[in-house]
Amino acid sequence: MKTIVDPLLLQNQCLAWRGEGKSIAVVPTMGFFHAGHESLMRQARTLADKLVVTLFVNPSQFGPGEDLGAYPRKLEQDAAIAQGHGADVLFTPAAEEMYAPGHSTWVEVGGVSQGLCGASRPGHFRGVTTVVAKLFSLCQPTVAVFGEKDWQQLAVIRRMVRDLFLPVSIVGMPIFREADGLAMSSRNAYLTPAERAEAVHISHGVFLARKLALQGASIPEVKAGVLTYWNTHLPLGSLDYLQFVHPETMQPVENFSTPVLVAVAMKVGKARLIDNCLIAPVA
Ligand code: PAJ
Repeated sequence: MKTIVDPLLLQNQCLAWRGEGKSIAVVPTMGFFHAGHESLMRQARTLADKLVVTLFVNPSQFGPGEDLGAYPRKLEQDAAIAQGHGADVLFTPAAEEMYAPGHSTWVEVGGVSQGLCGASRPGHFRGVTTVVAKLFSLCQPTVAVFGEKDWQQLAVIRRMVRDLFLPVSIVGMPIFREADGLAMSSRNAYLTPAERAEAVHISHGVFLARKLALQGASIPEVKAGVLTYWNTHLPLGSLDYLQFVHPETMQPVENFSTPVLVAVAMKVGKARLIDNCLIAPVA
């Protein structure tokens, strides 16, 4: 595995591979790898001749007062993990290279990026789509793999790819969870033991939503049930949102007659954690 820091060197390497007729898979990440990231790499490895893993804590997707400075980093360990999954390249650029002086081009997706995390974190998805567009331009991928843990991010990226006719297929992978159900996240590292013990109830609330919905409860009834559950089991949590939305447009829905995404964002201590679950109607 080669570690490349220079964007144009990466682009030259990838253009050369494409010139030789090789397909390229990319897994964009911000590092501090856990088993969720690894599941993406494992899948990506099977989808193309060459695998590029990118590791870049992208400043433009963090708002003022968010955790850019504190974001956990472990480059050496991450490099070993990427190598273990057969990555051909680990791309670890510097912020000044990805955003050179005078940088003034942004990629902004409307609609689907506006609710949920887009509403709570203004500018976040503009940062994500801008950096992912740059990474696509550098890596020339035939396929890119993302996690469903960040469902809205995946929906926003799919929209960008369709709207800009980008020649890349987007593959989504299921949420990888700890044994007790907590969705794996680099930000789980912020949790104290007491917060970690409570954080598991985020996922349990989401599973409860699915159970209640499948038992025939309406959206307001499911919402009330889940909020009561969190009030009891997650006193350290502060809810950002609990929403029931269309899984592609991310627009709020009124009932369970079509597939519904239940999405939650919850602050527990210093960590802002998200989780979700798709509820398909019973036939
Ligand atoms: P990061 O949070 O490092 O996540 C990298 C990829 O791993 C994303 O596609 C994310 O959805 C996926 N992922 C994270 N936790 C997961 C889990 N528990 N199960 C399955 N997949 C999981 O998402 C980002 O970085 C950035 O926004 C990025 C796309 C790299 C742009 O900067």
